Order: sequence, then structure tokens, then C-alpha cells
Amino acid sequence: MNKKAVIANDHGAVDLKNLIADHLASRGYDVVNLGVDDQQSVDYPDMANRGAKEFFKGGYELLILCCGTGIGISIAANKIHGIRCALPQDTFAARMAKEHNNANCLAFGGRISYKEPVTDMIDAFIDSEFEGGRHASRVEKMMRLQN
Ligand code: RB5
Repeated sequence: MNKKAVIANDHGAVDLKNLIADHLASRGYDVVNLGVDDQQSVDYPDMANRGAKEFFKGGYELLILCCGTGIGISIAANKIHGIRCALPQDTFAARMAKEHNNANCLAFGGRISYKEPVTDMIDAFIDSEFEGGRHASRVEKMMRLQN
């Protein structure tokens, strides 16, 4: 059975969303697109909420959220119980987001000029494993902050 990802975006990241969705499909993922597909203005907190609601229905490995910068939608996502949303700058940060932080959500910005392709960052994340151990207790501690 294919792995599943859900993606949501606002109007600031339509092209990036399509790039990511195509890339995940090429990596064998079934991708559910809940973002907007045109330039009509929407609110990124609504998109974060929509994506997270679908993610928590279960069966998804990953939630990807995109807005103009990735900042607003990642802040919104991290207000949602159970979400650990990373906003990686490069492939190193993307790998760490899995290995150390066990992130379940990645955010990117459609108006950001990244020094490495976003698709490489996604590969770095999905090809890594959470290391557990001392990182597990830190993640547990981090998640207790939401209560
Ligand atoms: C929308 O114009 C823009 O504010 C949004 O996409 C995002 O960049 C917010 O953080």
C-alpha cells in the first residue's frame, strides 16, 4: 500500500504546492490536495486547520503546508494539538526535523528563494528516521507544553 500525504496551501504557494505534490507522487505517495489551486485570497490558518483535520483522520505519514513564506501557516499549525510543524531552511534542517524532532508536518514558502530545492528537503525528511532515545524524551517534553 502506498504511503499517504496531505497537502494544503494558500494563494501564496499554488505553484510550490503543485511541485511538491508531483514530487511526492513520483516518490510513490498518494497525495490528497486540500489547498487552493488559484490566486483567490484565502486565510492560511484555515488552510492549516483543514490540512491538520484530514491528517488526524489517520493513515497519513506527512502533512505539508505552504503559504507565501511558510511562516504563518507553520505558526498556525503548531497551535493545533498534536502537530509538530517544522519550517526547514535546507536539507540539513529537513533531516533534523525527522531525526531529532520527529516532525509530522513540514511548511514551505512559495515566495521564498531557498538555497536548495524544496524537493530535496522533502526527500531528506522522508528518507530519514526518528532517532528516538534522548530525542524521544525531548519530543515528549515539547508536546507536554501544549497542555
Ligand atoms: C498571504 O498574503 C501571506 O501573508 C501568507 O501566504 C503567508 O506568507 C503568511 O505567513
